[in-house]
Amino acid sequence: MNFNLDQLQIFLDVATEAALAAGVVLQDYFGNLESIEEKGRPGDLVTAADKEAEVEILTVLRRHVPDHAILAEESGKAGDGGSPYLWAIDPLDGTTNYAHQYPASAVSIGLLIDGVPQVGVIYDPFRQELFRAARGLGATRNRRPIQVSRTTELSKSLLVTGFAYDRRQTSDNNYAEFCYLTHLTQGVRRSGSASLDLAAVACGRCDGFWERGLSPWDVTAGIIILEEAGGMVTAYDGSPFQMGSGRILATNGHIHSSLSTELQRVPPISIWADFDKFSRLG
Ligand code: IPD
Ligand code: CA
Ligand code: CA
Repeated sequence: MNFNLDQLQIFLDVATEAALAAGVVLQDYFGNLESIEEKGRPGDLVTAADKEAEVEILTVLRRHVPDHAILAEESGKAGDGGSPYLWAIDPLDGTTNYAHQYPASAVSIGLLIDGVPQVGVIYDPFRQELFRAARGLGATRNRRPIQVSRTTELSKSLLVTGFAYDRRQTSDNNYAEFCYLTHLTQGVRRSGSASLDLAAVACGRCDGFWERGLSPWDVTAGIIILEEAGGMVTAYDGSPFQMGSGRILATNGHIHSSLSTELQRVPPISIWADFDKFSRLG
């Protein structure tokens, strides 16, 4: 499908309106939560802020694009499932941070057209940073163009990653990758918000990001923002990124192949497999 840039700009403005409205909810509830629930998996939290911010976003989308399909973290699928347009929405990416009043969370709203990210907005209401992009229109932070870093060597890079909520139930938990890449680079950060991690790579603060277990609402906006900022997004092995796999490797492009190579030869750290037993003994 060919897209008219004017049409993408309209969708970008709709996403921006929705993200800013959700950001007001996040600011209002910050430090004022009456309860914090677990959604099922241990540590997977949800609050009134997540739910109300999502309602704000859906209200804006229903007003402007009522015929589009929606996939929202808290309320699931809605709209015409046959539509080529699918909005992937995380009303509060970084709920654990938010619940602890650690101010590193964002609203993430992305538009997939025929399964490909085309429009994205990530809004951090605490640092007042608005990241936006649409395919062919470039990427911006607070309306100024952004670009990925120029770092070419893994040993000189700063990376960022995250850990999925099933990390205690699987040995595929990213612990070994985290240790190994901490050893090989200038550092690995864990911000607690995958969308902000992708935005950090897009604007050159970090050189690369990887994570497993992510959902479309975590990454759709960040992928288009990073690609429009000159970055690269693939699976861990460098093959095309598959939205359903949940596994993403996203970099400035220059360190992509070396990071991909190292991710595929991470030495096992056997202690982590027995970590629960170990910690009970300790
Ligand atoms: C989480 C954050 C975190 C990542 C988790 C995500 P949530 O999203 O993006 O950085 O490591 O895998 O699930 O639950 O705060 O929306
Ligand atoms: Ca999320
Ligand atoms: Ca969320």
